[in-house]
Amino acid sequence: MADQKLMEKIVSLCKRRGIIFPSSEIYGGFANSYTYGPLGSEIKKNIKDLWWQRFVRNREDMVGIDGPILLHPKTWEASGHVAGFNDQLVDCKNCRARLRADHLVESALNIDCEGLSDADVTKLITENDIQCPKCGKKEFTEVRKFNLMFSTEMAKAETPSNSHLSGGGNIAYLRPETAQAIFLEYKNVVDSTRVKLPFGIGQIGKAFRNEITPGNFIFRVIEFEQMEIEYFIYEKDWKELFEKWFDEMKKWCTDIGLPTENCHPYEHPKEKLSHYSKRTVDIEFDFPFGKKELYGLAYRTDFDLSQHEKFSGQKLRWRDEGGEPFIPHVLEPTFGVDRSVLATICAAYTEEKLEDGSERVVLRMKPVIAPVKVAVFPLMKKDGMQEKAHEILKQLQIFGAVEYDDGGAIGKRYRRHDEIGTPVCVTVDYDTLQDDTVTIRDRDTMKQERVKISALAQVLSERYFS
Ligand code: GAP
Repeated sequence: MADQKLMEKIVSLCKRRGIIFPSSEIYGGFANSYTYGPLGSEIKKNIKDLWWQRFVRNREDMVGIDGPILLHPKTWEASGHVAGFNDQLVDCKNCRARLRADHLVESALNIDCEGLSDADVTKLITENDIQCPKCGKKEFTEVRKFNLMFSTEMAKAETPSNSHLSGGGNIAYLRPETAQAIFLEYKNVVDSTRVKLPFGIGQIGKAFRNEITPGNFIFRVIEFEQMEIEYFIYEKDWKELFEKWFDEMKKWCTDIGLPTENCHPYEHPKEKLSHYSKRTVDIEFDFPFGKKELYGLAYRTDFDLSQHEKFSGQKLRWRDEGGEPFIPHVLEPTFGVDRSVLATICAAYTEEKLEDGSERVVLRMKPVIAPVKVAVFPLMKKDGMQEKAHEILKQLQIFGAVEYDDGGAIGKRYRRHDEIGTPVCVTVDYDTLQDDTVTIRDRDTMKQERVKISALAQVLSERYFS
């Protein structure tokens, strides 16, 4: 069940506490574009670092790359994105709302537009008197295809290698998926490293899509980040490895704090598979606005490498000792960074009624994802306490981002850190100056305990960061 109120609270918390801001606000805003603030950028970095550690560094069968956003334009012809990465678009002539035509028909008539031509969808809209959901009028333009790739113009003069481009210009595309940069470097990676089939190449980076109807905060945006793996395999192994990768993806969800009961597999029906896929299973998550795609796992067969062979004229093959060269097949586990951030925040957001009748909001995030690992407070703004607190803060920087806070009543400081998910707070008080002990206060239980400063790092490491 969609919970719009909950979503509004989460968006407001993100803005208030410096997690995520709508971008370009001083110019009146820029639709569907967001800035990760001081805390949001920490959450995002924690997720990306964890992913890289787990899927690239900790696996003997994986390596990483960091490819460019602008790739040779032929890439997108070979991959099928120039011809096929389209949505059906329609404009309301009255209020100028720009709408996905298939979504309009689906919600009005409950008809699936998959495979219908633009003319057929136009006919459905006019013959059934469908209304514009924004203004209620029934005057639409014809339905037309709209390519979701952003294009840009290169300053460099046309060269023989890009003279095939449409209109003879110097158009390049901002990549709509990070995957293709990996396929383009398959040969370089094989030639320069000691990888052996099966092996994977991982990459984290920006992708851009000119989405017609973005929305739901950072769920669907025009500029986002992906963490993708292209895992090169023998064709015969695809079924078994597909299951293994899906298990890995489910484990990842648990490890970033997403409850198992809120993560659901979704098998794409055969007739709705992307042009490159023989099987795709998504993991959907129960966001406050409904059950939606979080991640995906696709069996891309040998489609991409075959296409790049054809378009580039280069051999992109694997050869076992004594065997014939062949094009490996590919499994693709793909993870959206922004959707990971949103899902972890939604899963962690909790409102609690306390025994004294007051309420608190807590982000019950896993310490590994939490933007601030430890907060250190001097009880009073007094000489001695402040210095000691700064001293302790320095020692605790080994755990990641830590924060010093001496503003306002201690209870308020605890509440602020509950709201941003700080797993533990450390308070320096009068006793600290006498006996070198501090109070540690746990975010989830709110229990407080005295700990020797000399044992503090060890205690926090064992309880929160091991
Ligand atoms: N290489 C395959 C691929 O790009 P996709 O399902 O189109 O597949 C992969 O995208 C992931 O990227 C999605 O599961 C989602 O997490 C994220 N994603 C896709 N479009 C997005 C958008 N407009 N805004 C935010 N995240 C998006």
